[in-house]
Amino acid sequence: MKTIGIFFGTETGTTRLIAKRIHKKLGEQIASKPLNVNRISPAEFLAHDALILG
Ligand SMILES: Cc1cc2nc3c(=O)[nH]c(=O)nc-3n(C[C@H](O)[C@H](O)[C@H](O)COP(=O)(O)O)c2cc1C
Repeated sequence: MKTIGIFFGTETGTTRLIAKRIHKKLGEQIASKPLNVNRISPAEFLAHDALILG
C-alpha cells in the first residue's frame, strides 16, 4: 500500500498542530504520524511514496 509521510519543522508548535490535523484528515491507513525533522534520519523520508513537508 502507498503511504504518505508527514514531516514538519516548528518553533511555536503551530506547524505541528496543522500537521496533526492533516494526518487526522488523511487517516492512519495512508498517512504516517507527523514527525519532527529535527528527530528523524533520512531513511524515514525514503519509507514513503509521497511526502507532505511543513
Ligand atoms: C528545524 C526547522 C526546519 C525548518 N525547515 C523549513 C524548510 O525547509 N522550509 C521552509 O519553508 N520552512 C522551514 N521551517 C519553518 C517552519 O516550517 C515554520 O514555517 C516556522 O517554524 C513557523 O511556524 P511555527 O509557528 O510552527 O514555528 C523550518 C523550521 C524549523 C524549526
